Amino acid sequence: MGSKPVTRPLPQSTQSATAGLFVTFEGGEGSGKTTQIQRLAERLRDEGHRVTSTREPGGSPGANALRDILLSGAAEPLGNDMEAILFAAARIDHTDVVIRPALRRGEVVLCDRFLDSTRVYQGGASAGDPDFLAILEEATLDGLLPDLTLILDLPAEVGLQRAAARRGTDAADRFERQDVLIHEARRQAFLAIAKAEPGRCVTIDASADPDTVSAAIWAAVRERWTQRTPGPQSAKAVRR
Ligand code: TYD
Repeated sequence: MGSKPVTRPLPQSTQSATAGLFVTFEGGEGSGKTTQIQRLAERLRDEGHRVTSTREPGGSPGANALRDILLSGAAEPLGNDMEAILFAAARIDHTDVVIRPALRRGEVVLCDRFLDSTRVYQGGASAGDPDFLAILEEATLDGLLPDLTLILDLPAEVGLQRAAARRGTDAADRFERQDVLIHEARRQAFLAIAKAEPGRCVTIDASADPDTVSAAIWAAVRERWTQRTPGPQSAKAVRR
């Protein structure tokens, strides 16, 4: 908890101390997830919460071993299903080694990309077989769903420009290299998920200035915390 005073604490979870709060951030390239996760983590810590910030693909040593293979494009020739399986393998390691233990400790887990990125990047907006991806998702997650998913939404073109500016002279990764129309289709796929799952997802206008985006995120987190009467983090899902 540190020595900082605990001001305006979030309401205590009504669940057992073994279940924390699992928040995922999703959205297209350059949507500002990384900055916003840092801001939210800081604010939560200032209020006395223990926070684990993590990201996908990666987040654990085992998953990080797959990150370069996935982002370099080395797995691209193997096809969409193979890429989806590799993202899933990375996710299983990440959830087992990092996310579930942190939730069991009662922490707030902030994760940069999670299941919806697979749905969108390997599914909806590409040629992925939805039945195969659904079975893979179920096997990978084994009941672990985010309590809250924040979908940072902005036009694909704006996001790609921001991502390019952030990258500087570094090369674009396997996904950033793709056509703006593919990125726009992904944006629509994220919005469709938000519409289909309003209990889990909140869409945030990421084209606003960073302070406005942070305020909208904070409001969504507070609201979800208040509403939480046994949420998806059942003891079973966290235990595995
Ligand atoms: P990364 O550079 O980590 O971050 P950013 O979120 O800022 O783009 O890039 C991760 C890339 O991997 C991104 O283009 C989305 C893609 N991805 C998938 O295709 N499927 C997945 O399941 C995940 C987690 C990511």
